Amino acid sequence: MKSNFGDFDVKNKTVLLRIDANVPIDHGIILNDQRLIASLPTINLLLDKGANIILLSHLGRPKSQEPELSTQQLVSWFDDNGLDVQFAKTVEEAQQKKGAKKRIILLENLRFFPGEKGKDPAFAQQLANLGDFYVNDAFGAFARDDTSLTLLPDRFDSSHKTIGLLVEHELAMLDKIISRAKKPSYLIIGGGKVKSKIPLIQQLLPKLSSVFLGPAIVFTFLKAQGKKVGNSLVDNDALNLCKDIMMQAEQMGISIEYPVDYIIAEGSFEGPMELSDSAEIPEGYAGVSIGPKTALKWGEMIMKADTIIANGLMGTLKRIESLVYVKDMFSALAQTEATTIIAGGDSVAALYYFNLARGINYLSTGGSATLKFLGNTCLPPLNRLKDGAETK
Ligand code: 3PG
Repeated sequence: MKSNFGDFDVKNKTVLLRIDANVPIDHGIILNDQRLIASLPTINLLLDKGANIILLSHLGRPKSQEPELSTQQLVSWFDDNGLDVQFAKTVEEAQQKKGAKKRIILLENLRFFPGEKGKDPAFAQQLANLGDFYVNDAFGAFARDDTSLTLLPDRFDSSHKTIGLLVEHELAMLDKIISRAKKPSYLIIGGGKVKSKIPLIQQLLPKLSSVFLGPAIVFTFLKAQGKKVGNSLVDNDALNLCKDIMMQAEQMGISIEYPVDYIIAEGSFEGPMELSDSAEIPEGYAGVSIGPKTALKWGEMIMKADTIIANGLMGTLKRIESLVYVKDMFSALAQTEATTIIAGGDSVAALYYFNLARGINYLSTGGSATLKFLGNTCLPPLNRLKDGAETK
């Protein structure tokens, strides 16, 4: 699918540009700006064509309006990258600021507005009233069907809405890689978004030879087998699904690889960390990341693959010491002859931190979105922008 906003006459018009500026931030410091950098080509092309832009994005998963998740923190990043951006806390403020000297307005975190997650037609209309065109370049959010991603585009007819250059690039690259992929092909998956990720493994199974399960995803699978997981993160609603996936994998001849040792933390994920030589998590501890034996074993297998998709960080960027053996695994990914796709903000941030990003074939800005696309599962926002998508 191609972006066709190059054909739109946007001079002196306002374009609502949905981006995925959901970058890892710690105490106001942006830990990795890959997603922001990736949004620049579309922003700059729109500016060259004379458009005014209202940037829309979510940031994190706010429970209330936490200041540490306000998109206001991103204004200085745009400033440092040569873009004069003014911030609007509310939709009304964005409306008032339209046409002022600065051509780019950044709206507050969309998830601060109850209508964003609430699939609220009134919120969609409020946003739609701000602009003449809608461009969606938020590939990282393409697994979601929030208001700004699926209801908002329905407010524009097909000659006033399209995907952006980043989405076009992601779709083309992922398509190219997956259509050339041969077996053995691996999925290496971990990270904290357990609930949304487990179903995606199932969709990808037919394309895989092996699935490598790491913290935290692995703990739901271990619990489903009656193994000890201590205080680790588990999705109790997905235990049966894990059993199904294990059964299907076995029927399809797909191996599931489990860690043989772990970094564990006393009490909870945030507690003091230590190494455990066990393949289970002791009572009173939470599993955090993989251990050295796992990294070595998986590293050897990584060298023999044709294609590898990795998603979800096994550990946390906020405690770099949790990633010491993940770094070894990433080194193997950077060295292997296999075609490697690393998907997701935190994994990509860690790769840059360890200076290993250059060894990877493709760094995708999407996490769940990338897995869904590779597994041929529908991406709701893309459907709203295809020719013939419903308009209201
Ligand atoms: C991501 O980081 O995967 C996207 O920005 C989507 O965020 P979400 O998982 O909180 O919906």
